[in-house]
Amino acid sequence: MTNVIIIGGGSGMGLALARTLLAEGMEVTIVGRSAERLAGARKELEASASGGQGKVAAVATATATTAVTTVTADISREEEVAALFAAVEQVDHVAVTAADATGVYGPTTDVATATARSVLETKVLGAWLVAKHAAGRVTGSLTFTSGINAYRPNGSNTIMAAANGALESLVYGLSIELAPVRVNAVSPGWVDTPIWDALGMDKEAAFGELAQRLPARRIGTPDDIAKAFSSVMGNGYISGTVLHVDGGHRIS
Ligand SMILES: NC(=O)c1ccc[n+]([C@@H]2O[C@H](COP(=O)([O-])OP(=O)(O)OC[C@H]3O[C@@H](n4cnc5c(N)ncnc54)[C@H](OP(=O)(O)O)[C@@H]3O)[C@@H](O)[C@H]2O)c1
Repeated sequence: MTNVIIIGGGSGMGLALARTLLAEGMEVTIVGRSAERLAGARKELEASASGGQGKVAAVATATATTAVTTVTADISREEEVAALFAAVEQVDHVAVTAADATGVYGPTTDVATATARSVLETKVLGAWLVAKHAAGRVTGSLTFTSGINAYRPNGSNTIMAAANGALESLVYGLSIELAPVRVNAVSPGWVDTPIWDALGMDKEAAFGELAQRLPARRIGTPDDIAKAFSSVMGNGYISGTVLHVDGGHRIS
């Protein structure tokens, strides 16, 4: 049975991906910093998995159940990423959706340097740590999450835009280095997930305004992104690629 580790699987796109993969009969391990968030996600997944079976290799800090395994780990801490993969003999695919946007939205002069460091450590260095410690254990693919702001920065998310741009360069490099393991990124447009709660803005107004401009005429859903991840993971001829799932945002 195909097994997948989803770092960031406790909410938003990662949680939707876990649901999608469980429905496709795969085994999933969801990873995040909050044990409480993961426990809630596991409960939700088990409820919707309608009796799915299986578990990914357990690690010391893991809580394994019949349907899904949870592991608490911070992607920016090497010892935690190393422990996550050291406990796994082999894994088919790894997906990374982890990011914390708290305090990141606003003009550069207002963003704390510690916040900027944290964004880079999570999205760029964290991705690199995953590649470093998954190498030799992952057999199929690594898929990371970039974002529309790498292409359409709006003056309020500059450091996140830079992190996403760097992440995409990392993906290209890793796809050469880790071959034949495939390495890709999915780049979402605006998607209604809990990450917006950390931005301190009028989400509904912003969504409404953007939806009018997008060729897709709507904001994205976590399931839109989950389907893209599933497709990239499952297609053995996609490597070194950024798949844009943004309702046409880049060209609107
Ligand atoms: N939503 C959008 O509109 C949008 C648009 C473009 C790109 N993106 C990107 O899409 C990805 C997924 O975001 P989302 O919208 O699904 O947000 P989300 O619901 O906030 O999910 C992010 C997940 O990452 C986990 N996480 C955060 N920091 C972590 C860390 N240091 N180590 C391990 N796990 C960590 C969080 O759980 P814990 O807090 O428990 O760790 C959370 O479950 C992010 O990379 C984001 O930048 C989102």
